Amino acid sequence: MGKGSVPDLNSKMYKANEKNLSRILIQIHRITGFDARQYRASTLKRRIERRLLATKSKSYKEYLAFLKRNPSESHKFLDVLSINITDFFRDKRVFFTLKRKILPDLLEKISAGNRKRIRIWSIGCSGGQEPYSLAIILSEIMKSKKDNLKIIIHATDVNRAALKQAKRAQYKKTEVKNVPHSYLNKYFTKIKYNGFKIKENIRKLVRLRYHDLIKGNTLGKFDLILCRNLFIFFNPELQNEMFKKIHDFLKKEGILVLGTAETPKDENLFFCISSRDHTYKKTE
Ligand SMILES: C[S@@+](CC[C@H](N)C(=O)[O-])C[C@H]1O[C@@H](n2cnc3c(N)ncnc32)[C@H](O)[C@@H]1O
Repeated sequence: MGKGSVPDLNSKMYKANEKNLSRILIQIHRITGFDARQYRASTLKRRIERRLLATKSKSYKEYLAFLKRNPSESHKFLDVLSINITDFFRDKRVFFTLKRKILPDLLEKISAGNRKRIRIWSIGCSGGQEPYSLAIILSEIMKSKKDNLKIIIHATDVNRAALKQAKRAQYKKTEVKNVPHSYLNKYFTKIKYNGFKIKENIRKLVRLRYHDLIKGNTLGKFDLILCRNLFIFFNPELQNEMFKKIHDFLKKEGILVLGTAETPKDENLFFCISSRDHTYKKTE
């Protein structure tokens, strides 16, 4: 079928493909415990095509048989599905707003309430670039403050390889190209082969762990949640469910930051602070 052409939804082949797609996802769920059935169909199909090529399978049916014979293929599929493209300070504007407005306002609210901790969650943290960027800007803001507020940043993902990288906290030169020089000098140590490692004082602010947003419970209540470039994987029904979940994860008037292509559909859950920065406040 050519790009852009409309599939015949009644054709035998289309129906067989849809059935096999759903069987593939059931098999993957069985082996990995990860349920991708509500991921966007177009994303799923694109990823499966890649694995079809890699495993030399000529059809979904053949790929399903391959999956059954090779349980490790289910994990490979998951790695391809959960593409973890990310960057330090991804979308600079958003991090600028976090540093200049959102975090200072939050800190003020927290100290006015005599609280001693700020709790942040980076959901879908990939290789750690997002939570470490947050930890760096929080350290920058806090250095001018005298209070001893404790910073807790939870960072979670379903991609184990990405989590492993996040735990190592080592990045190639090309991976830190977005980090301002002053931060690179202050918060990273130069290591062998042109690499950079996050310093311990930043690493210890970030608590990394495996967590599946779809199945998992909350890790407490949060002042700020970053869930960026993750909703784009979900179909509209799953998006609605996940927005409700995140609404529940936030403290009163907690803040949600989304990716630049993501917006909550239900206006009863979140009030938009800035549509350009995709920042939202929880409504009660
Ligand atoms: C495109 S990356 C975005 C990383 C980072 N948030 C950013 O915006 O740069 C999406 C991440 O979400 C993770 N992910 C996908 N499904 C998930 C789920 N159900 N629960 C938690 N993380 C998930 C992927 O493994 C991937 O690392």
